[in-house]
Amino acid sequence: MSNPEFRPGLADVPAAESGISFIDGKRARLEYRGIAVETLAKESFFEETSWLLLKGDLPRQKELADFDAALKEERCIHFRLLDALKSLPENGHPMGALQAGTAALGMFHPMSNVLNPANNWEAVIRLIAKLPTIVAAFHRLRVGHEAIAPRQDLGHAANFYYMLFGKEPSAAVTRVLDACLILHAEHTMNASTFSARVTGSTLANPYAVISSAIGTLSGPLHGGANEEVLDMLEEIASAENAKTWLVDAVATKKKIMGFGHRVYKVKDPRATVLQDLAEKVFAETNRPYAYNIATTLESAANEILGPKGIYPNVDFYSGIVYQNLGIPKDLFTPIFAIARVVGWLSHWLEQISNNRIYRPEQVFVGKSDQHYIPLEQRT
Ligand code: CMC
Repeated sequence: MSNPEFRPGLADVPAAESGISFIDGKRARLEYRGIAVETLAKESFFEETSWLLLKGDLPRQKELADFDAALKEERCIHFRLLDALKSLPENGHPMGALQAGTAALGMFHPMSNVLNPANNWEAVIRLIAKLPTIVAAFHRLRVGHEAIAPRQDLGHAANFYYMLFGKEPSAAVTRVLDACLILHAEHTMNASTFSARVTGSTLANPYAVISSAIGTLSGPLHGGANEEVLDMLEEIASAENAKTWLVDAVATKKKIMGFGHRVYKVKDPRATVLQDLAEKVFAETNRPYAYNIATTLESAANEILGPKGIYPNVDFYSGIVYQNLGIPKDLFTPIFAIARVVGWLSHWLEQISNNRIYRPEQVFVGKSDQHYIPLEQRT
């Protein structure tokens, strides 16, 4: 049999049939269950958008109230999980703590199978509710503070901010953080979602599914890019230097962090919404110098990389927004995970509702029919 065609990165190879989200990469269009992400970022809030993604339609009032109450009820984490977080190295990356904490959740809430929809839904609620608590608790502990218990009178985004800083965010900050969560909640068949579906297809428990997706998200070509954007802006150092830096980076084939996308060949619609949000935050706080560098870099990149279809993606402006809210750089990707868990879980539910284990082909390029040479005869 001849070898099947190999597509590096599985580019253009469908890995599933899915009804959760849709991208038109030429029209800068991203829809969750048919609704434009810009509309959701403006009109909806994270809990409502989560229901939409998970269930397929916007919730009715009672459905939303029950969902919201269930999420609030599940925010606390077991004191022994807190102890486990305490024993992790304080200079370790919080994505590691989140991945370990999520896998550990599966030990506190064992699931012997994924055949019971009621149990699966409980796990969905638990994961969405507890991930922010794990991230905030690890952060507090590593800087020598006590973890802050979640509050039931705050929404998802405001409660996360409260658990991080011990104070309530303003209405404007809550709105921005909530919109960031909506923008990051789902994005078709990206690497971490694929990872979640592959793990889910083995009928592994949802905690294993989500922890494998968290590991995949951590890489600098995926969620980890938001941290690297800030490192890059620091390296560029001044708006005046942005174009020269870019020309040199392109000449030396450096990847410009926060630019480019497998699907979008225009500016990522999420980057546009994030930039608007950034402007709103800066109206309340200061306009950071990094933002000036970023906008100058974007103008130069439009000229130099635009003809290749390389434009800012979601990660380009998110870090600047988070930094302005006082959030440490290494929490940017964990925040991405707190949002994306909803997309991963939606894909997990979709996968197991019509499952076949992933078992792709390979194109074999190695040796065959080799003799075993005894060790003493090998030269
Ligand atoms: N800077 C410079 N050149 C780029 C960039 C970039 N950011 N992205 C793509 N290119 C060039 C690349 O060098 C290649 O050129 P050539 O054909 O001359 O060799 C061409 O465009 C195709 O690039 P690719 O890496 O094969 O494209 P891909 O679809 O495999 O990768 C990507 C997509 C997002 C990994 C890539 O654009 C990248 O590495 N971007 C920087 C990291 C980043 O911002 N990641 C966040 C992605 S969005 C959020 C998320 O999904 O997590």
